Amino acid sequence: MSKVRDLELAPSGKKRIEWAARRMPVLKTIREDYLHDSPLRCIRVAACLHVTTETANLIITLKELGAKVRLCASNPLSTQDDVAAALVKYYGVEVFAMRGESSQEYYENLRACLEFEPHITMDDGGDLTVLAHEEGFWKSIWGGTEETTTGVKRLRQMEWEGVLKYPIIAVNDSRTKYLFDNRYGTGQSTVDGIMRVTNVLFAGKVVVVAGYGWVGRGVAMRSKGLGARVIVTEIDPIKALEALHDGYDVLPMTEAIKRANIVITATGEPDVVRAEHFKVANDGVILANAGHFNVEINLTDLKSMALEIREVRPNVVEYLLKDGRKVYVLCEGRLVNLCGAEGHPAEVMDLSFSNQALAVLYLKENHDRLKPSVYTLPEAIDESVAERKLTTMGIRIDEPSERQLRRTWKEGT
Ligand code: ADE
Repeated sequence: MSKVRDLELAPSGKKRIEWAARRMPVLKTIREDYLHDSPLRCIRVAACLHVTTETANLIITLKELGAKVRLCASNPLSTQDDVAAALVKYYGVEVFAMRGESSQEYYENLRACLEFEPHITMDDGGDLTVLAHEEGFWKSIWGGTEETTTGVKRLRQMEWEGVLKYPIIAVNDSRTKYLFDNRYGTGQSTVDGIMRVTNVLFAGKVVVVAGYGWVGRGVAMRSKGLGARVIVTEIDPIKALEALHDGYDVLPMTEAIKRANIVITATGEPDVVRAEHFKVANDGVILANAGHFNVEINLTDLKSMALEIREVRPNVVEYLLKDGRKVYVLCEGRLVNLCGAEGHPAEVMDLSFSNQALAVLYLKENHDRLKPSVYTLPEAIDESVAERKLTTMGIRIDEPSERQLRRTWKEGT
């Protein structure tokens, strides 16, 4: 049983999955190391992830280790329909995902994955885990994993309120995840999404980056690298100070948007760009979102202020304001890197999804002794991912000396 757009797309999806596989060598070493004893035999995994070539390689790995997997999308606009078709046709995965699915279909697909009575949930953003709690599916579940900052925040809140029913591994909080995926992955893929959708030149533009977490840092760094002048907006004084010390201008959004050619939101918060900002926005400003949910650009405000709304290119909507200024919104304010491009490159998802695969193996071994809390993966697992990556890249590092290991040295000895 599956629900995908068109099985005829499968051959193209398969070629693209294989292209990504070559760039995910760490995941391959994990597959090879664990394959012989099928450690996930008879384990059911419900996964709610962006349906991309990289996700396909993770799902194929879980299947090869013995798991039965159902997959749905973690965003209605990010599904690569050819990948969904290939997973069904060539790899025997049950997939419930179509690019452009309605909000109702989105939740029906999540539900279809939970009706499978999974032992383990794998989530990106928290919607699957929250639904499992709301609709009583949690009873069969040993534990879950969470991929992203927004999802971890939601699940920590549930833990704090005492309503979390099963343990969660916050994959996002592994250093080999957030330092690479959130910064270099989102940095590159967000700029890629904006370029593919608009074909504008970054050099010479004023780019406003809202939020200076790991994602904001990556986006600011890559925009600067392309020759843009970058302004950062923040609500956290320490992050604002860091941005300043990294060489960026820091301004409130009402000031920044007057100068902006492009605004990129990366805060995880709602209403980062709202009516008071649209009132003063630079004519022709392009608005794009890199945060998980489509709440950072307040489109209700923008629609209420517009005289005319029209699509001017695929994934670009023009809002004509009463005074003649125009504002352009990319991908309906959804994740521009996944809706306008292909998400993060495989090389960086190799790290994130190796953490995911190891988190599933860890949950399988340890769920009996875990409480319904949010955990990070043990440091040793995090380090092993970095070690594997360096090895596959042919990079060697130093070993600590005897004295360094003993830690008994003193000044002058
Ligand atoms: N999140 C960001 N990029 C992604 C990708 N390529 N695949 C799955 N999830 C992602």
